[in-house]
Amino acid sequence: MLSLKNKIVFITGASAGIGAACATEFAKVGANLILSARRKEKVDELADKLRAEYGIKTLAFKLDVKDKAEIKAVIDAIPVEWKSIDILLNNAGLGRGLNKVYEDDPENWEEMIETNVKGLLHVTRNIVPGMVLRGTGHVINLGSIAGHMAYPGGGVYCATKHAVKAISDSMRMELVDKNVRVSSVDPGMVETEFSVVRFGGDEERAKNVYKGVDPLTAEDIADAVMFVATRKPHVNINEMIIMPSVQANAFVTHRR
Ligand SMILES: NC(=O)c1ccc[n+]([C@@H]2O[C@H](COP(=O)([O-])OP(=O)(O)OC[C@H]3O[C@@H](n4cnc5c(N)ncnc54)[C@H](OP(=O)(O)O)[C@@H]3O)[C@@H](O)[C@H]2O)c1
Repeated sequence: MLSLKNKIVFITGASAGIGAACATEFAKVGANLILSARRKEKVDELADKLRAEYGIKTLAFKLDVKDKAEIKAVIDAIPVEWKSIDILLNNAGLGRGLNKVYEDDPENWEEMIETNVKGLLHVTRNIVPGMVLRGTGHVINLGSIAGHMAYPGGGVYCATKHAVKAISDSMRMELVDKNVRVSSVDPGMVETEFSVVRFGGDEERAKNVYKGVDPLTAEDIADAVMFVATRKPHVNINEMIIMPSVQANAFVTHRR
């Protein structure tokens, strides 16, 4: 197992859910963390807590991945002793609604594409050249089962996660001789703020998504991410599809 002690990990969308759970697991093994999200107060709070509990170093930034100028400014402003990022966890992402493509508000598409695809690309574009120069690094992208199988009402969300899969696959080939690994962790149903966000704050509708199911937790995904991140340097997990035991795929879920 690879030690991550004193490694530098950059996480997008660290204010909640999977990103926050991954931050906690990386902190437990002694990695130093650059945490970012739009809700700066949440990343600040998490950074303070992890520093106090695990004695690691942290940096926290307000970062909206939809804003490419902000991405560049944030990454340029990283102090020199933090520049050698070892692991980039491209986690920030969202779904907006479950509407049919021919009925949906195009604003929803814009937000999902800007965040899940263009945001991931711009963050990657600003961080990976440094990994190539240093000859070491690992990019871990949060994909989804939606990147393997489309479902009705998920046309654009599924398209964004298919894009994440294509980007991960291409980059893995482009970086194969650079000692920079590219992995993708692709979950099924995980109970986080994801559904509340997807349904515009409708907590009741969000709760129904997980009704009669033991969904995955953010900690389950953090566990998978840690497995991927701690393989020996000659091992790469290209992609890991991780599902609740009662969810076979995007269509078949056994509910109590
Ligand atoms: N939950 C699931 O069932 C599931 C399944 C498969 C894949 N995923 C993927 O897992 C990732 C994490 O989702 P989650 O389940 O942890 O959802 P979550 O609890 O809603 O967390 C999403 C995170 O992304 C951040 N984010 C959203 N838009 C952003 C933006 N424009 N700029 C920066 N950060 C942004 C949010 O922070 P701020 O709001 O503070 O910016 C938050 O920290 C996403 O890529 C999602 O697509 C989730």
